Amino acid sequence: MSIKWGVIGTGGIAREFISDVMTHTEMTVAAIGSRNPEKANSFFPGIKGYGSYEELVNSDVDAIYIATPHQVHCENTLLALYADKPVLCEKPFAVNAKEAKKMADLAKTKNLLLMEAMWTRYLPHIQKVRELLPELGEVKNIQADHGQSLMHIKRLTDPNYAGGALLDLGIYPISFAFMVLGKPEKITAKGVIENGVDLQSSAIFEYSGGRQAVINTVMNAKSPTTASINGTRARLELSNSFYRPTDMRLIYDDGRIVEFKNEYRGHGLREQAIYFEKMLISGKKESPLLPMSETVEIMECLDEIRNQIGLKYPFEK
Ligand SMILES: NC(=O)c1ccc[n+]([C@@H]2O[C@H](COP(=O)([O-])OP(=O)(O)OC[C@H]3O[C@@H](n4cnc5c(N)ncnc54)[C@H](OP(=O)(O)O)[C@@H]3O)[C@@H](O)[C@H]2O)c1
Repeated sequence: MSIKWGVIGTGGIAREFISDVMTHTEMTVAAIGSRNPEKANSFFPGIKGYGSYEELVNSDVDAIYIATPHQVHCENTLLALYADKPVLCEKPFAVNAKEAKKMADLAKTKNLLLMEAMWTRYLPHIQKVRELLPELGEVKNIQADHGQSLMHIKRLTDPNYAGGALLDLGIYPISFAFMVLGKPEKITAKGVIENGVDLQSSAIFEYSGGRQAVINTVMNAKSPTTASINGTRARLELSNSFYRPTDMRLIYDDGRIVEFKNEYRGHGLREQAIYFEKMLISGKKESPLLPMSETVEIMECLDEIRNQIGLKYPFEK
């Protein structure tokens, strides 16, 4: 079986996802839903367009990929689940943990597969990171950042779109720290807010045993966008951009260095779709690589950082 995807939204990431899946996998994107019938029909050659999201979710596609702005992820996911469709929903999974729980609860009630499209988790170099962790000794510290100059993108500077660096970019280093060290016991964060969105923020996550992760995100300057996992025996460095397929090096305290060159071809968004298909076929309802409970904890972490830096979106007030 090769699944037929339906995509909600006709923006930038929808196009990237469709290209990567159609070029590099056996799966197809069979249909696209847009709020505008003309956009739906002209978006991608050979793919059926529906002039509403309702029509798409009620069509004969096997699964829905949600590629709309953050503030409608919850609404769009619920729509698809109510139509009995399994869902892969873009990151951030929702705007806050309350929405994320609602989505996870409905998927459970409906017994449907639901997965956060945190595509990094499914990339081959991240699989290698998981394999290499025992080599590092005891992981004591993580440093990870994500910064891009994105002030020209309207949805990022608009609080009504749940804009800001944290939900769009900061979620990558945060999800990375969760993957390695789990949920932090304590979070301390500082941020810079302008016109209702966070331009940057930094957070220290504290864990038992004196371990820490230092996270930084910024959207009006380019930062290194690298990550390092620092252990008692060695450290693993992930080059820019650490959340995409990239080079890595393992640096032992005794001076030995092992290089891992990136040989991946294509964007990489397809890996989460391939994994999703495997889970769908095997009847799994959530991803062992990123279970719903962890997605909700990550949203709680984003809520906590927003609370500490004083960022509330207009529709939350
Ligand atoms: N995984 C990644 O690497 C990655 C990269 C970029 C973005 N993303 C995520 O993907 C999501 C979409 O980002 P994007 O950059 O693709 O956004 P975008 O280019 O602005 O497109 C979003 C699409 O959503 C639809 N939409 C539904 N409600 C909307 C509303 N109220 N305002 C505007 N558009 C609305 C629109 O399609 P119709 O008009 O056809 O309905 C629009 O084309 C975001 O949550 C973002 O975090 C992920």
